[in-house]
Amino acid sequence: MKAMDADGDTYCGAYGVAVPAEAPHPRAAGLALRVKIVGSAAGGGFPQWNCNHPLSRAARAGAGNLQPRTQSSLAVSADGRDWVLFNASPDILHQIAATPELQPHADGPLRSTPIRAVVLTNADVDHVAGLLSLREREPFALYATAEVLAVLDANSIFNVLDPAIVPRRELPQDCEFELRDAEGRGTGVRIESFAVPGKVALYLESSSRPDANYSSDRGDTIGIRIAGRAGGGSTFYIPGCARIDDALRARLSGASCLLFDGTVFTDDEMITAGVGAKTGARMGHIAMSGPEGSIAGLRDVAIGRRIFVHINNTNPVLDETSPEHSAVTAAGWVVAPDGMEIEL
Ligand code: MLT
Ligand code: MN
Repeated sequence: MKAMDADGDTYCGAYGVAVPAEAPHPRAAGLALRVKIVGSAAGGGFPQWNCNHPLSRAARAGAGNLQPRTQSSLAVSADGRDWVLFNASPDILHQIAATPELQPHADGPLRSTPIRAVVLTNADVDHVAGLLSLREREPFALYATAEVLAVLDANSIFNVLDPAIVPRRELPQDCEFELRDAEGRGTGVRIESFAVPGKVALYLESSSRPDANYSSDRGDTIGIRIAGRAGGGSTFYIPGCARIDDALRARLSGASCLLFDGTVFTDDEMITAGVGAKTGARMGHIAMSGPEGSIAGLRDVAIGRRIFVHINNTNPVLDETSPEHSAVTAAGWVVAPDGMEIEL
């Protein structure tokens, strides 16, 4: 899908927006890529509204060794002024309230937002439900794979985001390009998305052709490499991933930063905790621990910073005094809290 036009610009064929290959971006000049983890929990958040598991109980009681967390979302800026949201969680209004950078600029119009674009990594409720809170006829661009756009198109409630105001753009796979706002202006944030082993959203399982885990290696779940302007840093963002294969290991080799699926510590954690019947694999999430887990699977891959996001409310690493938290830390990983900021 990559091509060059007569001026040497690279563009991605899916929607044909030309991106200058080398042109400096004035707003981004000299500024690092800013990455804010605005929501570090998996679907349900932490504590989850109906959860009586000891971790949720303790978090609700204000235990000092447990930090409450909102649902999965990331905000990225190449210039500190315009922001791109990766996933729109049901907690988005709370997340905007907690993140001044995502609030209307003091010198902005009466109705405005610094959120120029939203990129979806799958169609899970914890990643798309926040779109409904972004109504009010505010322009921003919405990027997702053909599979995820089809889910939005099939659910008419998402028409509260009028496509004439919030254009829906198909993400080209394996092609780096600059995200553009609704009017076509560059955001300075460049991404390359790629399919990862995953599954269709929970609410689509009945209409999909299932194997044992309803798995899908197509565009239902993607990972994204996020970069700013030339010379700046980059990070990988993969909040959902069912397993680590050689292709993913090769892609991540040499990465300076990885934000990765930290849903469960052990595959049978929800069963053992007595809160559910599903394994991590059945939910499309690789466990952190064990020979098949992410810590072991990525141990020999050269990666600078390793950070777990999308952490489920049953995961013992949420307790900063737990042996599991110590094990994860000793393996070189960070368990992201809400509000964590990284400059790259
Ligand atoms: C998941 O990541 O497995 C989903 O977000 C689960 C859900 O829909 O709550
Ligand atoms: Mn999720």
